[in-house]
Amino acid sequence: MAAIQRRKFDTLIIGAGGGGLRAALKLSDADASVAVVSKVFPTRSHTVAAQGGMNAALGNVLPDNWHWHMFDTIKGSDYLGDQDAIEYMCRAAPKAVYELEHFGVPFSRLDNGNIYQRPFGGQSQNFGGDQAARTCAAADRTGHAILHSLYQQNIRAKTHFFDEYFSVDLLKDDEGHVLGALVFNIQDGKPIIIEAKTTLLATGGAGQLYKTTTNALINTGDGLGMALRAGIPLQDMEFFQFHPTGIAGRGMLITEGARGEGGYLVNGEGERMMERYAPKAKDLASRDVVSRAIATEIREGRGCGVNKDHVMLKLDHLGEEVIQMRLPGIRQTCMTFLGIDPAEAPIPVFPTAHYTMGGIPTNRNGQVVMPVKDTPEEAIEGLYAAGECACVSVHGANRLGGNSLLDILVFGRAAANHIIGYLAENRYHRSMDESCVEKAMQRFERWGKNSNKTGEPVSVLRDELKKVMEEHCGVFRNEEVLKEGVQKIEQLAERMKEASITDHSDIFNTARVEALELENLMACGLATMHSAYARTESRGAHSRIDYPERDDINWMRHTLYSFENGLDYKPVRTKPVSVDSFPPRPRVY
Ligand code: FUM
Repeated sequence: MAAIQRRKFDTLIIGAGGGGLRAALKLSDADASVAVVSKVFPTRSHTVAAQGGMNAALGNVLPDNWHWHMFDTIKGSDYLGDQDAIEYMCRAAPKAVYELEHFGVPFSRLDNGNIYQRPFGGQSQNFGGDQAARTCAAADRTGHAILHSLYQQNIRAKTHFFDEYFSVDLLKDDEGHVLGALVFNIQDGKPIIIEAKTTLLATGGAGQLYKTTTNALINTGDGLGMALRAGIPLQDMEFFQFHPTGIAGRGMLITEGARGEGGYLVNGEGERMMERYAPKAKDLASRDVVSRAIATEIREGRGCGVNKDHVMLKLDHLGEEVIQMRLPGIRQTCMTFLGIDPAEAPIPVFPTAHYTMGGIPTNRNGQVVMPVKDTPEEAIEGLYAAGECACVSVHGANRLGGNSLLDILVFGRAAANHIIGYLAENRYHRSMDESCVEKAMQRFERWGKNSNKTGEPVSVLRDELKKVMEEHCGVFRNEEVLKEGVQKIEQLAERMKEASITDHSDIFNTARVEALELENLMACGLATMHSAYARTESRGAHSRIDYPERDDINWMRHTLYSFENGLDYKPVRTKPVSVDSFPPRPRVY
């Protein structure tokens, strides 16, 4: 076999969404040599699809401060979020927005020139009082604006991009140090070893686990799979967010900003249904509450349409001018995919898989942390994670809308800051021998030209996985459904070992990518289903019909799932740094 090409960098960043690019920019500006590996052209990363905006207590529209934002985020997380990390994020938010403004993000503006902010779900003034308006928006294309600005800044800063390269696995030595990754060029199928003093995983979420999702095809949990195979547990994977307003049956996102601008949901009887579930916040209750409300209306026969299988989002009363100014993207989406102009007719919507709240456990510096028996967890030297693939945990059991763009920017930056310090102390690459690469190469070659061609097609298994997740790990769950889900997903994972890819891989390598992605999704599916089956309470997005109450005595703890040890748990960090804790309270909106 020909020798594999090698490249060396100070930092390897896997993933070119907002988290990866924010970190890359900070590092390149600090004169580190940075490689960003992305399986798509960077501006196609899923951050581009974020619509409604980014939370920060700027107080441009209504009074606000970071402490109220912190309270809302903790309450939104159903008290599972780590309060020190949430405090850090909410305090850092205004600065993160102003930095973006200086990078060139074209935020929408108020008449006085300040950044426009819209109300979003779960936001309040004064610790649970009146609705706040905290979400900084660039119309309904905020992620697009942010990602393009960050990419342009990285080009200026001379970040090195490996566009359309797929990361196979992390490379580790016998002492457990991560030394980089094995990646390959999707165009010609050639592998490259990227050696790095520090590696940051920023690969986004795993929304492709589900059949109907707001997520792009690329969101296949690649970093999560890599972490699990490297022996790192995944945290809180049972908490998967269903966005209340995906287009029914298709999944395209209709931003929460639509309700922020004054839109509301109606059921098949023409009732403004959210009044029943959240008398005060109504349509701007947090996402888990609104998704459950829609699912309940439909289950109880009050859905819309011939099959009574969706509800309607009404925007026409806002007027064409407001819709065109504030929500032009979703107007276009509705016209293209439904032939409906929301300025004239309501939009059929249904809760749709949207966001992976769990992920790779990290601390506030973005360092990946591991549980160590009988001692506090330890950071893995040189390995970092940021954004949706990470679990800091600032979202706990339910993320607030507008906090994900914030998360990627704040923790992408924090990780880069820590890496800069690490690089100052660790100036040389550790040596890497051939044995570090063997396992990753085996995985790469398993799906190569000479692989088995007679097994089940990967595409069949992928469709089955999505069906199992949809049917067994949706908005509402119970013992029987989850138990069956665990069995089915274990069987699928076994079948995956014998699966094969079709011949067109010989030409374009895309089938090989799909197989590697499915292995990652399968790993995420196992973690999600096992974690959900074990958690016998209802908290945030994990809603058990058989255990309808939150159980703070037994379940105020984070789940950890690993291939080696199955399930384990660790405490929630309830102590902030500069303010008092917010103790768990009944969660009403
Ligand atoms: O509804 C939205 O615009 C999505 C925002 C988010 O997930 O934070």
